[in-house]
Amino acid sequence: MSRIPFEQLPGDVRQAVADKTGDVHQAVTVAGGMNSGIASVLETDGGSVFVKGIPVDHPQVGAQRREAAVAPHLPASCPRLYWHLELDGWSLLGYEVIEGRHADYAPGSADLPLVEAALAELQGVTAPAGVQIKDAVDRWEDYAPPGTLHLFAGTTLLHTDFAPDNVLVIKGRARLVDWAWPTRGAAWIDPGALALRLMEAGHSADSALSYAARFPSWRAASSEARSALGRATAALWREIADEDRAEWKQAMAGQAAALADALVCR
Ligand SMILES: Nc1ncnc2c1ncn2[C@@H]1O[C@H](COP(=O)(O)OP(=O)(O)OP(=O)(O)O)[C@@H](O)[C@H]1O
Ligand SMILES: [Mg+2]
Repeated sequence: MSRIPFEQLPGDVRQAVADKTGDVHQAVTVAGGMNSGIASVLETDGGSVFVKGIPVDHPQVGAQRREAAVAPHLPASCPRLYWHLELDGWSLLGYEVIEGRHADYAPGSADLPLVEAALAELQGVTAPAGVQIKDAVDRWEDYAPPGTLHLFAGTTLLHTDFAPDNVLVIKGRARLVDWAWPTRGAAWIDPGALALRLMEAGHSADSALSYAARFPSWRAASSEARSALGRATAALWREIADEDRAEWKQAMAGQAAALADALVCR
């Protein structure tokens, strides 16, 4: 959806934000991401806050609510959620500001070890019970090859959306933002999801899979499980690319197919 500046929110919504933060002096819309109808860094009496929000009638409002629910359970590499507001047709999240830049996944990038450290920390986190997050088995149900779905089951908290604009780098550290798709599942799924994003940034399938192999969970996964994820991801991106001819989606579908082929050959 198109992104509006903070000033165009209804007056009572802006007032509710000011009730949380103190007077708002400045609002700067940030680049990156697609779903948030507003994504701004505010300077306020109470300090800086990053606000992301979507209309409550937007199809992704459920994702925004999942993001709010999982926030208290996230590791230190993730920004702190200060508040969640819903009023006058808007759902808003107020976060600690991370003044970083988007991660660079290109081959040889100095960001790659930082991203590895952030994901390694997350790999040790168990998905919280009693929080409405997706299950990997349900998420890949329509895409996994027949008879392989059980391989996706697990108890680890997964991020699953490693688009580089969801990873902010600052002061020698990578921080994972945009928890719209928190998922409970097998730990090795996240290194596999990240591998595809590395290919998008110019890695060969071999190079992306070598990076995935830095994670013990990926090394321990069976080749059947890894190729099931490859096939499922390729099927998912084929569907996305068939629905929308955007060039980057066509490229992602091609890379997902190449990754799946590499996994089957290994
Ligand atoms: N805590 C933060 N501090 C500063 N900037 C942030 C923070 N969180 C996210 N951003 C920036 O805002 C952009 C959009 O935020 P985010 O990725 O969370 O939402 P989105 O991709 O628009 O929406 P959705 O979560 O619904 O897919 C990010 O790409 C990043 O550049
Ligand atoms: Mg995003």
